[in-house]
Amino acid sequence: MFIGTKVTVGAFVPDDYVAMYCWANDVVAARLDGAFRPANLKDVVSQCEAVAKDPSRVMLAIRLLTDPKIIGYIHIQNISAVHRSADIGIRIGEEKNRGLGYGAEALRIALDYCWDHLNLERVGLVVFRDNARAISAYRAVGFKKEGLLKRPLYVDGRWVDVVLMAAFRRSRRARSARQASIDANPSCRIAAPAAAA
Ligand SMILES: CC(C)(COP(=O)(O)OP(=O)(O)OC[C@H]1O[C@@H](n2cnc3c(N)ncnc32)[C@H](O)[C@@H]1OP(=O)(O)O)[C@@H](O)C(=O)NCCC(=O)NCCS
Repeated sequence: MFIGTKVTVGAFVPDDYVAMYCWANDVVAARLDGAFRPANLKDVVSQCEAVAKDPSRVMLAIRLLTDPKIIGYIHIQNISAVHRSADIGIRIGEEKNRGLGYGAEALRIALDYCWDHLNLERVGLVVFRDNARAISAYRAVGFKKEGLLKRPLYVDGRWVDVVLMAAFRRSRRARSARQASIDANPSCRIAAPAAAA
């Protein structure tokens, strides 16, 4: 298990499946990343179990540091050992847990896992153009826009544009080097504005 400051990211346990089943049947959330298709509990469980045996996929459960209940998950798929690449997706299951920094921290941990344990060089994703919160979360952890697909999907009565994004292991190295240089040269830091009297 990987431990952050707000969340942990790690393996699934059987108690997670009911929550996964509820989220799989959440029509509103489905509209954020595809067309809705109802799933029964048996299918959800067998899908999670199949991932565990599939070397091209990893699913990670997200939990709060203070509570073992699952709050979301990350799905790394299309892992290619040849091209050292994969695709990633994330869902924080309930609206009350969104916008609190959990998604960005879980993504950061998952990306480190991709670089340090799966030895990947590139992680890509697709996101609906109007999913501003997801795009902000992806940008916050280092994903950059690579392109835009116009109207590839028809969801809930409207055509949807899709943004392609990717993060690279070498960019993390560059970011870490920049941070190390700032840490070593505090004078490079932008001075905080003086507090109002
Ligand atoms: C997308 C998702 C994973 C993001 O996780 P989150 O925990 O809600 O997001 P965070 O709180 O970590 O916020 C990440 C960034 O989004 C910004 N943000 C938060 N709420 C926002 C909103 N309503 N609109 C725009 N940006 C928002 C935050 O300010 C932060 O950016 P910053 O680091 O530059 O300040 C989560 O909202 C989710 O699962 N949504 C439903 C499913 C979904 O959309 N999945 C993605 C499909 S591609």
